[in-house]
Amino acid sequence: MATVSLMGAGCASQPNPRPMIIPEPTHMEMGQKHFQINDKTRIIVQTDTRGTGEFLADLLTPALGHHPELVQNAALLNTDNAILLLIDPGSPLGEEGYQLTITHNTLRIFAATDAGIFYGVQTLRQMLPPEIELKKSLAPSALELPAISIMDRPRYRWRGFMLDVSRHFFPPEYIKRTLDLMALQKLNTFHWHLTDDQGWRIQIKRYPELTSIGAWRTDENGQRYGGFYTQDEIRDIIHYAAARHITIVPEIEMPGHCMAALATYPELSDTGGPFKVSDKWGIHYDVYCPGKESTFVFLQNVLDEVIALFPGPFIHIGGDEVPKDQWKANPQCQALMKREHLANEEELQSYFVKRITAYVQSKGKRVIGWDEILEGGLAPGAAVMSWRGTKGGIAAAQSGHDVVMSPGTHCYLDHYQSESQIPPKPFRLLTLEKVYSFDPSGELTPDEAKYVLGVQGNLWTEQVATPQRADYMAYPRLAAIAEVGWSISENKDWPDFESRLKSFEQRLSYLGVNYFAGPTTTTQPAAEPSAATKP
Ligand code: ACM
Repeated sequence: MATVSLMGAGCASQPNPRPMIIPEPTHMEMGQKHFQINDKTRIIVQTDTRGTGEFLADLLTPALGHHPELVQNAALLNTDNAILLLIDPGSPLGEEGYQLTITHNTLRIFAATDAGIFYGVQTLRQMLPPEIELKKSLAPSALELPAISIMDRPRYRWRGFMLDVSRHFFPPEYIKRTLDLMALQKLNTFHWHLTDDQGWRIQIKRYPELTSIGAWRTDENGQRYGGFYTQDEIRDIIHYAAARHITIVPEIEMPGHCMAALATYPELSDTGGPFKVSDKWGIHYDVYCPGKESTFVFLQNVLDEVIALFPGPFIHIGGDEVPKDQWKANPQCQALMKREHLANEEELQSYFVKRITAYVQSKGKRVIGWDEILEGGLAPGAAVMSWRGTKGGIAAAQSGHDVVMSPGTHCYLDHYQSESQIPPKPFRLLTLEKVYSFDPSGELTPDEAKYVLGVQGNLWTEQVATPQRADYMAYPRLAAIAEVGWSISENKDWPDFESRLKSFEQRLSYLGVNYFAGPTTTTQPAAEPSAATKP
């Protein structure tokens, strides 16, 4: 581990115990004294760090019994009994790194940007006892912090979590709660899977039927099921995410997984329908018809509104699991293939993706898609999300494309966590230990590894109907994803992670998270997940 105990070497007293932090910081050096946060402790901020200062003040308020004073005054930089949150433009720790130094009279967090300050505050939060999450008055000893020097920065810049809100809908409050928990774990990218066969979940003002029709299905039990986010709700969530240094990547699926859109506008399909918003899981044969210009007009109009809403650099366009049968049978698709000299339907998919990519790029955004977008040739500038193992990610990196690793083998949080949890067959098993073992760059040369943006845990929700169940599937495995994304390989240590997890899970339980508390590893050999994860 990167923990060393040099401070005070030679003295009789022992250094402080190492704090239990997930993800494990890059470098920690323990001191011997303590800093007491008390009634008089002030938080010194700058314009750029005031929001993070408020976040810290809100965290401390119930425990202290009053709101600590926030002061923006350069003259106070050397004051005692202060928590300093200060931008250091010369910090060597990158855009998200921070330095946290606690002595007996001050606590300083320095970073190049407020994101780094925010992550320093998350580390500080985990140095406080889990009871801090209960938001109640605590004894003064709970607010005593060990002297320490931490230098920390993330291994990867994309540390993601994907939530599928199409198969089951999760209300805005649960999305915000998800963002809160991501922040605790220093995750910075929320991939919002907003459209699929079973429901269209984002209001598009130009096409109101997408949500009046496409957001609702009739399930096998005869019940209507659905929901969607208005653009106002989405803006509010984007703002909430930004305050936690989380970028949202919206996903609008194409050319497949689009029954909810085709149920609304059957004329965009190959056959003309009619269709209904699907109440079945799996892959559907009806997909958007690229042989009709109206398909591109529709998708570009949708993307215009999506691009205007989301400030982040990436738009996810899906691209996975597209049966080509309807394109083979459709004369308009065949005519287009002839006109464009496309040899087969894989090249037609590539034509589709390239056209959409060029459009999105013309609006100043980047495209990311599932690894099928490699088939028939990848659009220049597009990034790949590798889910059918790491093969697609490796091929993308080798051809100079950015990649996010989220292979089913290690990152699919809809798979079961232990044999004891498995009633249905066939099942796919993904233990906490296996998630933890993942190295996103492990199969790449150093030059290829430069294209690995990072790692992401994905929660598909066919079998996840409630927030309680989503918690149960996501935690604690998302904490392992967070450490895979943040901590350097030299600092990864499974037994040590397990012992840190005990305090982390106490924190989760105080935060009301219904985490899975069963076995973290397996004794039986389990079948490897197959490439496709959907039935
Ligand atoms: C996927 O799991 N179909 C990307």
